[in-house]
Amino acid sequence: MAPLVAGLGYDWVIGQVGKCIEELVALVHPGTAVAGLLLRPTSPAVPTPVTITCGSGDALDHISEASVDAVVMDPPYYDNVMYAELSDFFYVWLKRTAGQVVPELFTRRLTDKENEAVANPAKFAGQRGAKALAGRDYQERMARIFAECRRVLKPNGIMTLMFTHKATGAWDALTKGLIEAGFIITASWPVNTEAEGSLHIKNKSAANSTIFLACRPRDAAAGQGGTSYWEDVEPLVAAAVRRRVAEFQNSGIGGVDLYLASFGPALEEFSRHWPLRRGTPRAKPEAQRRQRQTTLLQEEYDPYAVTPEDALDAARREVKRWRLDQLGQKQAKGELDPLTSFFVLAWDSFRAPVFPYDEALRLARAVGVDLDTQVVGVLGEKAGSDLCLWDSARRAAKSALGAPDGSRAMLDALHHAAHAARIKTLAAAKEELDTRGLLAEPAFRQALQLVLEVLPVGRDFSGVALDGDLAAASGDFDALENLRRLALVGQVPEPKQLALWADAA
Ligand SMILES: C[S@@+](CC[C@H](N)C(=O)[O-])C[C@H]1O[C@@H](n2cnc3c(N)ncnc32)[C@H](O)[C@@H]1O
Repeated sequence: MAPLVAGLGYDWVIGQVGKCIEELVALVHPGTAVAGLLLRPTSPAVPTPVTITCGSGDALDHISEASVDAVVMDPPYYDNVMYAELSDFFYVWLKRTAGQVVPELFTRRLTDKENEAVANPAKFAGQRGAKALAGRDYQERMARIFAECRRVLKPNGIMTLMFTHKATGAWDALTKGLIEAGFIITASWPVNTEAEGSLHIKNKSAANSTIFLACRPRDAAAGQGGTSYWEDVEPLVAAAVRRRVAEFQNSGIGGVDLYLASFGPALEEFSRHWPLRRGTPRAKPEAQRRQRQTTLLQEEYDPYAVTPEDALDAARREVKRWRLDQLGQKQAKGELDPLTSFFVLAWDSFRAPVFPYDEALRLARAVGVDLDTQVVGVLGEKAGSDLCLWDSARRAAKSALGAPDGSRAMLDALHHAAHAARIKTLAAAKEELDTRGLLAEPAFRQALQLVLEVLPVGRDFSGVALDGDLAAASGDFDALENLRRLALVGQVPEPKQLALWADAA
């Protein structure tokens, strides 16, 4: 945050902390509280007894078995934040203030790093594969925490769990622990947790939603049989996503959030059928192998194993199909080629030319392209932990434009045309397309329509000048839209996104 912005900086924080404390106090004093869903006004004079403890979630020794109605958890997400390390800064000061009131919570010299459930390689400093060891440590700790929650929860109890957008790699580890601890996911709700912001102004992508999962002890759910086969369950997972995706989109969830929101219904269906195995063995996926090396320890590969990541993959594929249909593939009836699909869906979901490489890997898998060999060096480059997509000029400068007839991917033909329009003239670009017979080619027209729905609109049509890589991509939008108006009006519909800029143009 920007701490000094009036009304949104420290003063906002202090106001919020005060508000939270007031609301917590009100909860235990029902008489003074405004009656709401959670508050049952009983005897106003008697505060509800509250016990607060501070300890690790995998050792709730003070709570007996099957005694709790609800567990509400906002768990740590893999290596997102190193809470304990950050807390040391405050701990030493709190010890001298709050420590006077609750000395039993401040007996340590510094905070407890050992029992923290985060993937922290520093815990394994000096050991081989520290990063992988840290990943496994996180996974095991979270599994123990879920198992402990399962122990204390009543058979008809409920656990709600928040899943943040960051570190989607943690989803697999978390849901595996959750399902193996004996929970099924019975509902999921995406909740917008960050201000919308102006996505096209920032260069980098961001997601806005947190997913709330409602989980129940498995025994409480009827109809549990033996092992099910993934081949039977996968279509059910896809159907579950299909049923919800339109609803999510209509309630304003878009971009990468739409993929995240789809994980809820996918995991609901998946956990209902657990345990799962494959009927036919699967070859070790190359991308997964590479990715696993950096995150989790290499474990013996089981070609029949099914993991929550399978459900997430199925969800991504379903959302991919849905989005391409929404952007115009349905009317065209043909399938867009994989590379152009990757480009369209990357812009559609991240709305920025730079986004996390891990997310790009997952999208590539859903689309059926190999990121390292077919995308990197062709459509963009790896920059640290991000993928950066190139515009037509960058691709031309890197001699990466490919065949101008679109024989590898229609995006190549589009970028050749955009580049010609930008460095020569619109007429020259049109003539080149005409000579290659592309203007009459349905696959070219379809690709043009979809790309024009996702690239950022440039100054010619929005009146707004963008910066950096976004400006470069918007240059392609302007070139291609001008070309459409010159050569394909009537054949390729006007981009729907232009309606947003109707007043500005
Ligand atoms: C995503 S944060 C929750 C933030 C909280 N909802 C808030 O708004 O302040 C995850 C929390 O889990 C805590 N945590 C990490 N390991 C834990 C463990 N073994 N037992 C209990 N809590 C743990 C972290 O210290 C961190 O505060």
